[in-house]
Amino acid sequence: MAFVEKKVDHRLVGREEIDAFVARLGKQISEDYKGKELYLICVLKGSFMFLADLIRHIDVPCEIDFMSVSSYAGEKSTGIVKINKDLDKNISGRHVLIIEDIVDTGITLNHLMNLLSTRNPASLRIVTAFDKPSRRQIDIDVHYIGMEIPNEFIVGYGLDLDGYYRNLPDVEVLAAD
Ligand code: IMP
Ligand code: MG
Repeated sequence: MAFVEKKVDHRLVGREEIDAFVARLGKQISEDYKGKELYLICVLKGSFMFLADLIRHIDVPCEIDFMSVSSYAGEKSTGIVKINKDLDKNISGRHVLIIEDIVDTGITLNHLMNLLSTRNPASLRIVTAFDKPSRRQIDIDVHYIGMEIPNEFIVGYGLDLDGYYRNLPDVEVLAAD
């Protein structure tokens, strides 16, 4: 799809605020996993920037891996999730932390949690940069949340509209057509 330029309506979250919650999350995670090793799973593509920032605030030994999934809202509210790229390693017995950009309906993460828990990790938690609780369709336990946001479609800081706008350093709400 070709790039269609849209104007920014307003800035929802600025860089300083992002830096602050990323540092807070990294500190909390480092305390919670003290003496353990972490296996971090970056859910592509939206989470790449958050991962890059977050790991610089994590001071326990960690490996990173990438997973790519697409979810389709099917007739049932649960939808289906297709795995485009699976993990490189076996997570059995590992402390696994899924890194998400945003939790919206919760459908994608619900499927991912169900799938990964069948692989017998020692523990399995989620950290998300942004959370839109008002949109939730499936109740999932999101252990670490950077920031709750209202029901608005956001772009920037890795988040896209039709593949574009991920490069914006702040989180913006685009103007309607
Ligand atoms: P869900 O929780 O299964 O509905 O899907 C979450 C995914 O939808 C996220 O990982 C994002 O890729 C995408 N998404 C949800 N809300 C937004 C948004 O406001 N901006 C950009 N992507 C979003
Ligand atoms: Mg995503």
